[in-house]
Amino acid sequence: MKRSLSGIQPSGILHLGNYFGAIKQFIESQDKCEGLYFVADYHSLTSGTSPESLRENSYNVVLDYLALGLDPEKSTIFLQSDVPEHTELYWILSNLTPVALMERGHSFKDKIEKGISPNMGLLSYPILMAADILIYDTDIVPVGKDQKQHVEMTRDIAIKFNEKYGEMFKLPEEKILENTAIVVGVDGLKMSKSYNNTINMFLSKKELKKQIMSIVTDSTPLEEPKDPENNIVKLYSLFVTPEKVQEMKNKFKAGNYGYGHGKNELLETVLEYFKEARERREEFVANPELVNEILRKGAEKARGLAKNKIIEVKKMVGLLGNRY
Ligand code: ADP
Ligand code: TRP
Repeated sequence: MKRSLSGIQPSGILHLGNYFGAIKQFIESQDKCEGLYFVADYHSLTSGTSPESLRENSYNVVLDYLALGLDPEKSTIFLQSDVPEHTELYWILSNLTPVALMERGHSFKDKIEKGISPNMGLLSYPILMAADILIYDTDIVPVGKDQKQHVEMTRDIAIKFNEKYGEMFKLPEEKILENTAIVVGVDGLKMSKSYNNTINMFLSKKELKKQIMSIVTDSTPLEEPKDPENNIVKLYSLFVTPEKVQEMKNKFKAGNYGYGHGKNELLETVLEYFKEARERREEFVANPELVNEILRKGAEKARGLAKNKIIEVKKMVGLLGNRY
């Protein structure tokens, strides 16, 4: 059975982009792959998050994973910082990674362009991600398109290691769903926590409505025909069949169907689609002992695998520890 692994940074509440770009794939592959899914809490430190929000967001990602259907009986769910072997491997890999490779990172360059003065964590972020992936001999990494380069860097680093020391790491492949590779936000740009343009599936109906009503449209009057390739239709198409999408497009083209109507239809669709997940989330919220137990078991399982691998890696590079 192939091994699938992915993580999400706990840098805010999760949104439709995270779900359709990444988490939905985790859930759908649960019966076909051995899954390891974690909260990338060490990665969140690179953005200088406060302890309170790191704690809160990390726990929320776990709740979201469970509510959306990650099943702890099938997949291993854990916190990255519960498996210190990731950071041990990160250090070893750092010594094989050219600074220039890190400086070419799109995500790193975007942050520099925004005027952020980078710390070492931000520069070496992809090396920790490589360690996350390589330590488990991962075959498949389900992610959104923005992570493609990071998985390519992971392969580059693995190849360097294998060439220098001998065959140690499997070369992982990213898995990107083409039709949901980039989910648009309310402003039509890529939906992202950092652009303040998200739609968050676990907000109250009132708050969710506010987000959906803020989807940017033009000002064509109600009775006139409208461009069917608008942001409402793009988001609606994530949830429904192509026939239903065509129906909405036809209504926009015909006129007398306003953007407000489309937004209301989208709101009802989102609520219906996530109905069960929203209920399940409440159950987990009410049962923190269960959530902690899931994380404890997940960490134990992941650590078992990571420990075996790091012993082999350390031996291979000439570190004398772990000879017993
Ligand atoms: P954000 O951009 O909101 O900070 P993250 O970088 O934490 O999101 O992304 C977590 C996962 O969700 C990654 O696999 C990423 O590729 C995916 N993802 C995030 N935003 C989108 C989007 N708009 N469309 C598709 N996938 C996305
Ligand atoms: N960089 C990823 C993101 O921002 C999160 C991540 C960390 C990850 N380690 C990973 C994703 C390993 C896949 C595999 O979304």
